[in-house]
Amino acid sequence: MTIALELRGIAKRFGPTRVLRGIDLQVQSGERHALIGPNGAGKSTLFDTISGRTKPDEGRIVAIGIDITGRAPQRISRVLARSFQTTSVFTGLSVLDNLRCAALGSASSRRIDRWLPSRALEDRARAMLDAIGLAAHADVPAARLTYAEQRALDLGIALATDAPLILLDEPTAGMNRAEASRALALIRATTQGRTLVVIEHDMDAVFGLADRISVLVQGRVIATGTPAAIRDDRAVREAYLGESR
Ligand SMILES: Nc1ncnc2c1ncn2[C@@H]1O[C@H](COP(=O)(O)OP(=O)(O)OP(=O)(O)O)[C@@H](O)[C@H]1O
Ligand SMILES: [Mg+2]
Repeated sequence: MTIALELRGIAKRFGPTRVLRGIDLQVQSGERHALIGPNGAGKSTLFDTISGRTKPDEGRIVAIGIDITGRAPQRISRVLARSFQTTSVFTGLSVLDNLRCAALGSASSRRIDRWLPSRALEDRARAMLDAIGLAAHADVPAARLTYAEQRALDLGIALATDAPLILLDEPTAGMNRAEASRALALIRATTQGRTLVVIEHDMDAVFGLADRISVLVQGRVIATGTPAAIRDDRAVREAYLGESR
């Protein structure tokens, strides 16, 4: 098994607050790995450090064999695509153009043709449009979508790249049950053969999607394991799962 993502001793503080306190994590190639934990545990901050939005104070990040510690997001876009907890679509562009941009930014499109949108690129954008259920809104400015539709588009933007490593921050937040279950099926289908790290609050979603789960509490990983092992882990139940009862 090769390792797609390795975090070694990641630490991050904001002023006096230690948000990440020495995170070690290995995600295998092809694995779907969920990151769960209470509000404020540091999950999104960890994604920020992996994706280059913020620099860790300590530690190393190796993705697909490349040390990407502290590299700017645009320098690692071939390796890694990331969606945000809040929607981040280009509101002034049409839905389809948002997906075209994502496909255009991907590594294979750069190899095929730098200037003209290739047939493959157009096909990929349109396939993603169908997959996220927004075909009827192809030419609508993204600003006019509902919140849940914008979340679906966010997801499509991350998945339309061909980055081998995908990070999704609460992809189903704000969706109703039907939308969330469609989004999860899409995530499952489109991350086949890629490596996924997903932050997710919906426990059913996590247990249905993830091969392994890591639990983050107060900036530390307190457990990593299969869904069954995590469900039965006493420390996890006390620290996290118990609190929702
Ligand atoms: N730029 C920042 N400056 C100062 N504090 C920050 C900053 N970003 C995050 N924090 C703090 O770091 C802690 C972790 O935040 P983070 O957003 O990573 O948590 P989270 O696990 O993603 O939570 P949630 O489940 O609510 O999304 C919080 O206490 C937050 O207030
Ligand atoms: Mg968060």
